Amino acid sequence: MNKILAILLVIGLSYTVHAEGVHVNNQAVQACERQTVGETEFKALPYSYDALEPYIDKLTVEIHYSKHHQSYYTKFMAAIKGTEMASMYIEDVFKNVSKYPLAVRNNGGGYYNHMLYWENMKANGGGLPTGRLLSAIQKEFGSFDAFKTQFSDAAKTRFGSGWAWLSVDNNNKLFISSTPNQDNPLMDVVEQKGTPLLVLDVWEHAYYLNYQNKRANYIDAFWKIINWDVVEKRFMKK
Ligand SMILES: [Fe+2]
Repeated sequence: MNKILAILLVIGLSYTVHAEGVHVNNQAVQACERQTVGETEFKALPYSYDALEPYIDKLTVEIHYSKHHQSYYTKFMAAIKGTEMASMYIEDVFKNVSKYPLAVRNNGGGYYNHMLYWENMKANGGGLPTGRLLSAIQKEFGSFDAFKTQFSDAAKTRFGSGWAWLSVDNNNKLFISSTPNQDNPLMDVVEQKGTPLLVLDVWEHAYYLNYQNKRANYIDAFWKIINWDVVEKRFMKK
């Protein structure tokens, strides 16, 4: 009997320790959500390299994340080290990015834009958003299909390297834009400013291995892997 009690006690203790661990980890995650630039960590890809196949192939995701994205992060950290930016939030750096060295705009944008991009995709994604976001899209663009066409056109017609965005401005109005290089709608250098909700990378490194010069096919495939839950969360947080 004593033996059984001892076993139950051990199971109970290990459960408590485990549960405590989870609790502490959750607190840490919440606290980390608003990191300063100097505390920024290179986040793990939220899925495996092959998770987005057949729409984005494994090798493209691997090189894109572990080489390109990683490199932007490393160069960004080097650019802000020992400066006032290290203790700022990244959004505040972007708000005044024109006053900082070009390395901050290019690599800070490169780091941040890719993080949003990875997060707003998932395996078996696509479909339609729901709730308030869907209503806002329908109100602003007439229909989801009209929005899809307009966003795709922004991505297709971006000359050279850049990004397509769905953002929300300070008046809670949705808008579609595209930016060159690694610029984003949070930066003071762009024409239309707002909070990014959905982002698509149209640099050739994002699609060339699988799609070669057929950017339009990559853009069509993107709609099958959008993680609308994440996009809606960004919209609700705004
Ligand atoms: Fe990229």
